Amino acid sequence: MSNNPFFTVDKISKSFGGLQALKELSFHVNKGEIYSVIGPNGAGKSTLFNCINGIYKPDTGSVKIQGQEITGLRPDQVAAHKISRTFQNIELFSNMTTMDNILLGRHMHMKTGVFSASAMLWKNSFSAKDETEHRRKVDEIIDFLDLQASRNKLVSQLPYGIQKIAELGRALATEPELLLLDEPAAGLTNEEREDLIFWIRDIRDELGITIILIEHNIQMVSEISDRIIAINFGKKLVEGTVQEVTNNPDVVRAYLGAD
Ligand SMILES: Nc1ncnc2c1ncn2[C@@H]1O[C@H](COP(=O)(O)OP(=O)(O)OP(=O)(O)O)[C@@H](O)[C@H]1O
Ligand SMILES: [Mg+2]
Repeated sequence: MSNNPFFTVDKISKSFGGLQALKELSFHVNKGEIYSVIGPNGAGKSTLFNCINGIYKPDTGSVKIQGQEITGLRPDQVAAHKISRTFQNIELFSNMTTMDNILLGRHMHMKTGVFSASAMLWKNSFSAKDETEHRRKVDEIIDFLDLQASRNKLVSQLPYGIQKIAELGRALATEPELLLLDEPAAGLTNEEREDLIFWIRDIRDELGITIILIEHNIQMVSEISDRIIAINFGKKLVEGTVQEVTNNPDVVRAYLGAD
């Protein structure tokens, strides 16, 4: 293993009653990598993210970022370690504008791990000076993600694909060093998916953010990833480069299906 990896998951396990969703899962991610997690439905991918960002506490094992133990911390404490995420189901206020949703991301202390209404109170607590500064930062994100046309529209009025990008903006608003993306391309058209690939690359290349990506679309994963881990029944099946993982017979059998 490389000396002092940026982010490590060491033998984490998580059970729900009799169901073991994660079984001593270990991996590391280097700074600046796009690291993808693949596996069939129910493999434990979202549970992994929930254990990382504090929605769930792992039963055993350890999660560290830059050598600092974050295992079992609350979501807001994990966020303070510059880890941000998007959700499999979009977590935005649909009756608020793109601008306001991303603005909330600036001061979102995710006590419950979901994008809760308590975030509204934070927004109202901004001082005028802070407010200006936060809006400036949000406009940078809006420009970066090319969301200008959606800036003042309600999220409910936006096409699904743009909502996904707006959620990406909300996650970027916390200025993370590690970004967890849970199926960002689900439900997107091919064209929207190509745009998303572009944004994810840009987030890594321009902003220097390390990315862990959960994704079912194997073509997208192959296009974008530096390394991939395939998991099944909460355990590591195989990990390696795109070539190594997509050519692995177990992966082909368990995940990709026979060709
Ligand atoms: N809060 C929970 N309570 C009980 N069981 C849960 C809970 N969360 C997840 N599970 C179970 O843990 C297993 C892993 O679920 P998880 O959502 O992590 O899978 P996934 O790999 O993200 O699947 P998908 O590709 O469908 O999103 C599943 O069997 C799921 O039903
Ligand atoms: Mg999932």
